[in-house]
Amino acid sequence: MEKRAQWGTRAGFILAAVGSAIGLGNIWRFPSVAYENGGGAFFIPYLFALLTAGIPLLVMEFTLGHKYRGSAPLSFFRMNKKTEWLGWWAVLVSFVISTYYAVIIAWAISYSIFAFNLSWGQDTESFLFSDYLNLSVDPGQAGSLVPGVLIPLIAVWLITLGVLFKGVKKGIEAANKIFIPTLVVLFLIIVIRAITLPGAAEGLQTFFAPNFETITSGSVWVAAYGQIFFSLSIAFAIMITYSSYLPKKSDITNNAFITGFSNSSFELLAGIGVFGALGFMASQSGVPVEDVVSGGVGLAFVVFPQIINEFPALNGLFGFLFFLSLVLAGLSSLISISETYVAAISEKFGLSRTAAVGLGGGLAAIISLLFATQGGLYFLDNADYFINQFGVAFVGLVEVIVIAWFVRNLNDFQTHANGISDLHLGGWWKICLGVITPIVLGYMMFDLFKTNIL
Ligand code: PHE
Ligand code: NA
Repeated sequence: MEKRAQWGTRAGFILAAVGSAIGLGNIWRFPSVAYENGGGAFFIPYLFALLTAGIPLLVMEFTLGHKYRGSAPLSFFRMNKKTEWLGWWAVLVSFVISTYYAVIIAWAISYSIFAFNLSWGQDTESFLFSDYLNLSVDPGQAGSLVPGVLIPLIAVWLITLGVLFKGVKKGIEAANKIFIPTLVVLFLIIVIRAITLPGAAEGLQTFFAPNFETITSGSVWVAAYGQIFFSLSIAFAIMITYSSYLPKKSDITNNAFITGFSNSSFELLAGIGVFGALGFMASQSGVPVEDVVSGGVGLAFVVFPQIINEFPALNGLFGFLFFLSLVLAGLSSLISISETYVAAISEKFGLSRTAAVGLGGGLAAIISLLFATQGGLYFLDNADYFINQFGVAFVGLVEVIVIAWFVRNLNDFQTHANGISDLHLGGWWKICLGVITPIVLGYMMFDLFKTNIL
């Protein structure tokens, strides 16, 4: 049998895991989620979720991959034959996400070029929705491909599949060693520029002003857990796959803490940068900061171009740097999502890496064309909504219940992780996974069910 691929260095693994974690979610999701759920007070449920669910689950997924040395389905299978489907489920969620995540990166590539001649103009909203994407509310009307999306989309897939084709060490590790340090430097430049703009202080005040009343509300806690899961790439099969390439002697627990805290630090930095910039925009237009807050596609592709339009100097350059950082954050995440199905199908069907990349990646690339059509945003919104509501937390919930209660493997996991890690897991780790996380996620699912179905 072929020897399993391995990371070249410990830093290589950490950069890849952090690269997966740091993504669009940190830049456009976290700032608005935190603001809408209590501002400064949100950090209480957020830190609680990080420490009781985020890092403990990361340790669990790292241990699963490291102990059983397989892609997600194979690792689950080796843990217990009856749980292989759970790995496939996570892989399927990842596959679907990859098909539209790639398209958002393609938009960011186009926008990084538009930034130089500001070709989105002043009306950035209609530029995105009518001039650039030509969106039609009727998906049947939206047959034709948008060239401004299609061309960068091809580039996104060529880069991603090229990296995966080169393998774990020469591809994924090498790419993240370039992408992540570059991303951090670019982002620091942008954030420093943002917080030194006039009005930035107001923006930051709005962001951090704590509304302590909110933390007694269940929905704020649900938002905190949801953000931690999405942001740490937990329950996407990613962290299981990546840790299966770790050498035998690897400090799992420490790696999980480093990954968790690096991701949260970047998230906090993004919140500061985004709200600094929003404060500047508010001061330019005379509207209160509260009225310009947004998140998601609107924040990145409508509000940011507006802010950049108002920039005192070097607007093209800062626009370019902002969208380039979205591209880098996005690509390192897309690489990680796509590796989950490349690894899974190559092991399941005994295919070479090249064949698995061609087959899995090729299929994802073809499906992603759907989102590059005029109706693209319509499909993208629906896919994203569906995945976020029913994919992520649900897989996480089933995962902890299966491991903690059905297979009852937490003791073995604990022994395995403690045998190779400096920091030893105690009883609290099992309480977090076996009791606290299932209760909170169970409540989350119940809440979702109530608001969506009943
Ligand atoms: N952790 C990523 C982020 O914050 C989210 C993500 C990664 C989503 C990989 C899907 C796949 O954006
Ligand atoms: Na993240």
